[in-house]
Amino acid sequence: MTDSLTQALPARAAALAADFDRELAAVEASRSGDRVEELRVAFLGRKGKVTALLEDLRNCSKEERPAAGRAINELKQHVEARVSALKEKAQEWELGARLNAEPLDISLPVTASVPRGSLHPVTLIRRELLNEFRRLGFTVYDGPEIDYDFYNFSALNMPSDHPARDMQDTFYVREQEHLLLRTHTSNIQIHCMLNERPPLRIVAPGRVFRVDSDPTHTPMFHQIEAFVVDRGITFAHMKGVIDAFMKAVFGSSMKTRLRPSFFPFVEPGAELDLQCVHCQGKGCRLCKHTGWLEVGGCGMIHPNVFEAVEYDSEVYSGFAFGFGIDRMAMLKYKLDDLRQLFEGSHSFLGHFPLFT
Ligand code: DAH
Repeated sequence: MTDSLTQALPARAAALAADFDRELAAVEASRSGDRVEELRVAFLGRKGKVTALLEDLRNCSKEERPAAGRAINELKQHVEARVSALKEKAQEWELGARLNAEPLDISLPVTASVPRGSLHPVTLIRRELLNEFRRLGFTVYDGPEIDYDFYNFSALNMPSDHPARDMQDTFYVREQEHLLLRTHTSNIQIHCMLNERPPLRIVAPGRVFRVDSDPTHTPMFHQIEAFVVDRGITFAHMKGVIDAFMKAVFGSSMKTRLRPSFFPFVEPGAELDLQCVHCQGKGCRLCKHTGWLEVGGCGMIHPNVFEAVEYDSEVYSGFAFGFGIDRMAMLKYKLDDLRQLFEGSHSFLGHFPLFT
């Protein structure tokens, strides 16, 4: 640089601007926030080069002052604008440097043990049952959990004075309006048959409610209802379907047995037993030494039910069955207390798989 004392101030300002631009380029190349600050101090600080020029302005002649003042001010504004732009850039450099220093690789495997969720055993068995029913050509149907007496009882051949109503202790929501919590999924038969025409191949899982609570009964539990209505449907079709899906769920060596029984909405009616999963029919504590476990009821749909939904029972016949899903989950997963299913304990539920 030329000797500052002998040079006119505007020329010195121009020379300083050139110096600044050169240093600015070097600082920018360094991508260092510290060097931006050093540059600011060197030019704009109390003892900085621009500040020194401003002080020299006091010593210059009146004639020179306006031009010199303008030149130095322009220089100062130029330097200030560049430094503040560079300060902003410095923040980005710093962020980039930090990210490079602490690399975050989202493809790395997780090393800490993270607790995993799993599917509830009732969900698992319900999915498995539905898959099997779909394979057999059934359609999944849904129905209300809060329902009218008509769907839950009357239309299922249980008029209000029918003693069979006592078999299922009912929770009433509003008794005078005949509104209740359904006691079984058989109500879905009525909803479905009133809305659809045969042929029907329906499966309907759901929650049901009864006033009941002990080691083998909970006030809420799950059932799966299935029914088929068409011309020429027989008891043999029913046995074939039940056998096929029980084998699919419990393995091909599973044996089933039908025992004559009474349900108002079927005639003839039967109860379905599975060979004991624990002793394979030899007799043990679980099956009370009978070799068999009861899982639900079934039968040929009663003509009175067809009459309630205005199907011609001279033309159509059908079978229906309803099984306890919780009971099947207990048998499949070898659980000994039904209540375990509804307590929500993590240590219990964690034993089941995440996927089916
Ligand atoms: N709904 C009966 C119950 O919960 C079970 C049942 C029996 C369903 C016979 C049916 C059936 O569809 O045909 O006890």
